[in-house]
This record gives sequence, structure tokens and C-alpha cells, in this order.
Amino acid sequence: MPTPLRIAVLASGRGSNLAALIAARDAGTLPVEFVLVASDKASAGALRLAEAAGIPTLALNPKSYPDRPTFDRELFGRITTSGADLLVLAGFMRVIDGSALAPWAGRVLNIHPSLLPRYRGLHTHRRALEAGDAEHGASVHFVTAELDGGPLIAQARLAIETGDDEETLARRLLPLEHRLLPAVVALVAAHRLALGEAGVLLDGQPLHAPLQLGEHGLQ
Ligand code: GRF
Repeated sequence: MPTPLRIAVLASGRGSNLAALIAARDAGTLPVEFVLVASDKASAGALRLAEAAGIPTLALNPKSYPDRPTFDRELFGRITTSGADLLVLAGFMRVIDGSALAPWAGRVLNIHPSLLPRYRGLHTHRRALEAGDAEHGASVHFVTAELDGGPLIAQARLAIETGDDEETLARRLLPLEHRLLPAVVALVAAHRLALGEAGVLLDGQPLHAPLQLGEHGLQ
């Protein structure tokens, strides 16, 4: 059996995307080993999920550090020590310093609840509704120092219906996120996905448009 991909996950919140990754691993569809789940919030549900799954956890309080670069240096030092091959941001609500990210170029993924490049940052559901968009969605991208601005890998799309509000949109999008993120991590685990000089490479070929999540997975 090939060595499973070692992944670390950063999460600030309840951790349903982490739960989806763990479930895919347990179902045998995601050949990964979780080496660390870390959070900037000691109360994060993601940490409790990781503990229950027997995954090493780490909570670091940003307030205990003089500034962002110092916090990020400590956090990324611990991630490096964990032996992770890939870092997945699954609801990590902090901007990461460019100097901490630099050695990890092409090895950090983020899931963001919008059809990037639309709506980087917060309140994506509200902003899609306010703009009168016909569709909304989620994106997985490689992380760069630019917030939610790194090269796009894959998206899941959702039609906005009359009567949708922030809550209904978030509720209908989440199950799509839970399929999208494990599917992208599986591509990394299969060594099919990489970040090259000119952008995302799938099976060694430039990816000209993000993959789309369909009924049967990414296409
Ligand atoms: C998700 O909507 C994710 O896209 C966003 O934050 C939310 C995290 O949810 N970045 P959870 O903690 O994984 O349940």
C-alpha cells in the first residue's frame, strides 16, 4: 500500500468540514493520515472532533503573541514538526502571514463559501443575496498570501432560490462543501494535483478552469 498523505487541518469553528474529511478517510475513499488539528480557538468544535477521532490537537491563542508574524511562525513551526505533507484550512478564520506561508507554497488548501473570485472575505452568503446572484457556491483553492485569492482548483455550485436567506443558503451549501473538500484532498493524495509556476496542474496539465463538483464527483 502506498504511504497515506499526512495532513494537518486548521479550523476555528465547529469543524463540519474536518468531520467530512475524517468520514471520507474512515470510508476508505481518502487515503490520508491526520497528523494534527490545530486552532486559534481553544473552544473550537473541530478540536473536540479531532480528540474523539484520536488525532493530535493544538490550540494556540493569538493574544499570547505580540503580533501576527510571531503567532504564525509558532503555528507553522508546529505544523512542520507534525510531519504534515499538506495543510488544509477548513474554516480557519485568520489571515496568515506571507512569510509563514512561503515555505508551504503549493501545499496549503482552503475552502471558501463563495464562487471565487466573487466575495473574498466574510459574509459571502449575504453578499451573494444582496447582489441578486442566480447562483452561489463554494471554492477550494491553493492558499497564497492574498486572502482567498490563490489559484482556484474546484467549485461546487448551487442555484439561489426565491425566498433564500443567509441561513438557508448556508444550510444547502454545507453538504456540497463536505463533498468538495475531500474530493480535492483525494486528488492531492493521488499525486494528481500540483501548483506549478503558471498555475494549477492536474495530471501534469494546466487547469484552465476550476473543476466542478457534479453528481459523481469532480469533473
Ligand atoms: C465553511 O462554510 C467554510 O467554507 C468556511 O467556514 C465554514 C466552516 O464550517 N471557510 P465548519 O467549521 O467546517 O463546519
